[in-house]
Amino acid sequence: MSSTVSTPGQIRHSGHPDVPEIDLAVDLGRLRLPNPVMVASGTFGYGKEMAGFVPVERIGGVVPKTITPLPRKGNRPWRTVETSAGLLNSIGLDNDGVEAFVEKQLPWLAACGAPVVVSIAGANQDEFIALASRLDGVPGIAALELNISCPNVSHGVDFGTDPEACRSVVAGVRNATSLPILAKLTPNVTDIVSVARGAADGGADGVTLVNTCLGIVVDWRRRRPLLGNGLGGLSGPAIKPIALRCVHQVRQKLDIPIVGVGGIMTIDDIMEFLVTGASAVQIGTANFADPTAAARLLDALPVAVAEAGAASVRDVVGTLRLDGPQATCGEENKRGDETP
Ligand SMILES: Cc1cc2nc3c(=O)[nH]c(=O)nc-3n(C[C@H](O)[C@H](O)[C@H](O)COP(=O)(O)O)c2cc1C
Repeated sequence: MSSTVSTPGQIRHSGHPDVPEIDLAVDLGRLRLPNPVMVASGTFGYGKEMAGFVPVERIGGVVPKTITPLPRKGNRPWRTVETSAGLLNSIGLDNDGVEAFVEKQLPWLAACGAPVVVSIAGANQDEFIALASRLDGVPGIAALELNISCPNVSHGVDFGTDPEACRSVVAGVRNATSLPILAKLTPNVTDIVSVARGAADGGADGVTLVNTCLGIVVDWRRRRPLLGNGLGGLSGPAIKPIALRCVHQVRQKLDIPIVGVGGIMTIDDIMEFLVTGASAVQIGTANFADPTAAARLLDALPVAVAEAGAASVRDVVGTLRLDGPQATCGEENKRGDETP
């Protein structure tokens, strides 16, 4: 168990007299977070929009909407459609560009106190490198997340589907900045481990697993796709087993810190990602259903970590047992009290 409170949100007492203080801090390579509950790019605006709902300063890491070198209008509507267990989106990286972000969005976020992990996307390697050098040395940025996995723009996944292209873009960004780098990968590949290995070889501090799963929703009566762009990215509870599988496969083969994201709604979901091998998690679509989700789940974390018999989040990470009897598939495996 760790000692004193050093960062907001780092040491949390469960509120239960029998449960000790829990050390929530986690490390993703050179990036230290006060706690593992981050919010995912594209689901939390630029932070300011959410401040009326959730104490942003408590969040383990805020990843604002992906920025590109120049402003982008994004795709034509519809841009989001609900599905039976998730959300299909084709926003198309609608954003005001890097200069507007640095001038108008970053100052508020940087002042609020939560680590800011800036998500960047370029149309080619040179644009990724140019974005990284532009942001290098800008105050208030804790790390970069490379969005090499957006299914909704042309060339959005080029670097996330080819291991060598992934290595090359990460290495290029590595040379252009001293900031820690997370490479955000797509699940829409046959072999996620080889792409993650490319990221590790290129010098990434960690990999974020995963972006959305490619999908389509159609109106059969009008014989048309519902999204203006046709295809979109599926998120929410429907993709949790896929995201967990990606975390599992990478954890089994590589020694690189993992941020797990995909379908997290409850504290059980977070614990599943941690146990499977994610050092931190990102809350995405859940923010749309419940803007307080990140704080609510952070509040529930110490009791769950204590229930796992650990005094720190780090001690839970990657403790999945692959030998012996299977876990019971029943109510006793669920806390049941944290459903939104
Ligand atoms: C409306 C919407 C917009 C998104 N925009 C981005 C984005 O700009 N950059 C990015 O890296 N991921 C983006 N994502 C993907 C999420 O960050 C996350 O990886 C994905 O939704 C899976 O997590 P979830 O199931 O918890 O939502 C977006 C997701 C949604 C639903």
